[in-house]
Amino acid sequence: MARISTVSLKEKKQKQEKITMLTSYDCFTAAMVDEAGIDMILVGDSLGMVVLGYENTLAVTMNDMIHHTRAVAGATSHAMVVGDMPFLSYHVSFKEAVRNAGRFLQEAGAQAVKLEGGTERIDTIKAILDAQIPVMGHIGLTPQSVNQLGGFRVQGKDFETASKLIEDAKALDEAGVFAITLECVPTGLARKITEEVSVPTIGIGAGHYCDGQVLVINDVLGMFKGHTPKFVKQYANLQPVIMEAIKSYKKEVEEGTFPGKEHGFSINEEVLEKLY
Ligand code: KIV
Repeated sequence: MARISTVSLKEKKQKQEKITMLTSYDCFTAAMVDEAGIDMILVGDSLGMVVLGYENTLAVTMNDMIHHTRAVAGATSHAMVVGDMPFLSYHVSFKEAVRNAGRFLQEAGAQAVKLEGGTERIDTIKAILDAQIPVMGHIGLTPQSVNQLGGFRVQGKDFETASKLIEDAKALDEAGVFAITLECVPTGLARKITEEVSVPTIGIGAGHYCDGQVLVINDVLGMFKGHTPKFVKQYANLQPVIMEAIKSYKKEVEEGTFPGKEHGFSINEEVLEKLY
């Protein structure tokens, strides 16, 4: 099966086929997501919260992202791998933004990058696109702006902010992004944006009218101890399963039932006798 491309994603929107996306941060999970036939894998900077244990995404670095994106990309053959540009990696200058975006493709093996922001990021996005690097936009709740937004809250609930998000989405579409993440926006507004833009919208907390959906894999699998947002659907609860396995291992080591004979390696009895 050929790898999903920006072209196949646009075709899916035109044919009204829903697009699937999940995050991954390591090779094992990425291989499973890929094998399951998910269209896109986002190596999100949510890495900071669900893997590195940070309070938010702001401390995640380019090196963190390259390290994990390489692990994910190497384990996939079908899904499009999108590397999430971390805070400050595209804000300082166009040159730095292009260089950092390029690292995701050149060093980590991703096929595209994602960055947060609307009209204020258009020139940066154009510079990255100019280097032949596909860009996914991200508007609505943009976690890297958490301090400016005053918390993780739904965006675009009044006329002014909703109109600004429509303007942002159109500007991203015109600039040439291949898809737009809509995070935490009302369902009706996400529908309007989805109708207004030519590229697929991928929602997270943005309702069912989006062209596709993305969730953080740890939320989907019940592998996160922090707050789980209302928009998440947990498809499995692995926490108790993992805890049970760890406790059984501890118990068996402590009581001497693990390792059993079948887990050991044999040695010739004569060799052993000589050692005594
Ligand atoms: O970092 C991330 O996982 C994301 C998704 C929430 C879209 O940006």
